[in-house]
Amino acid sequence: MVKELTEKIENKSIADQLKFLADRFSGKIAFSTSFGLGDQVISDIIFSNNIPVKVFTLDTGRLFEDTYKVWDKTLKKYNKAIKAYFPDSDAVEKLVSEKGINSFYESADNRNECCHIRKVEPLARALKDIDLWITGLRAEQSDTRTELSIIEKNDMYDLIKFNPLINWKLDEIIQHIKDNDVPYNDLYNQGFISIGCAPCTRAVKLGENVRAGRWWWESKEKKECGIHVSVNTVPRISTKNLDL
Ligand code: ADX
Ligand code: SF4
Repeated sequence: MVKELTEKIENKSIADQLKFLADRFSGKIAFSTSFGLGDQVISDIIFSNNIPVKVFTLDTGRLFEDTYKVWDKTLKKYNKAIKAYFPDSDAVEKLVSEKGINSFYESADNRNECCHIRKVEPLARALKDIDLWITGLRAEQSDTRTELSIIEKNDMYDLIKFNPLINWKLDEIIQHIKDNDVPYNDLYNQGFISIGCAPCTRAVKLGENVRAGRWWWESKEKKECGIHVSVNTVPRISTKNLDL
């Protein structure tokens, strides 16, 4: 199946790849957006071409205000649905009551527990009944992401994963955003390149890893929130003002 799908989509534009897969996996295809730069490119292509794909986001309850702003701008620009999945309220109430509001700084176990409650479990709900999951993963983002394929089997969720931007460079993403007037997160121009939850993301300096600002207090082997299990190391790439 992976080989066949890969052959069918190669040499197609990303819009045509998405149309083909939306037809093939009708009603069972979903895109997860965290409103990052690459994710915004995919949303733009899906929404502008009216491609029938469920678009959803995981609202951990700890996102940046700027992320909510770009979410809002995206709804207003395209007038399309973005389904929000929230963590189980009982689980969050128990976590915060027992361990406090910022327990993730105390240990990797606590951090994984928080990520599990706020991201991994809601993602499992979002992907229930989904056979093809679209993500904004890019090879350039990390050493292990260089081993990812555009289409791959994902055993954790028992589905096919489609990573349409796998070979896109940051410059190409910025160009698409500029050319198509795509809303983007203001934090990108303040040195935030990879953006997750507010308490677990900080700006990176020139020459630092693209994901150095994520869970910066942990060793890089532990930088894994659990939704992309094979991803855990990052390369050093030059960061720059995106000048969008
Ligand atoms: S993470 O594992 O470190 O959080 P990253 O931020 O690089 O991942 O995002 C990679 C892809 O994971 C995104 O392009 C998106 O498809 C998905 N993703 C990450 N965070 C979220 C989120 N909060 N909601 C929906 N999708 C997400
Ligand atoms: Fe919790 Fe931080 Fe993980 Fe967000 S990134 S779910 S706040 S530990």
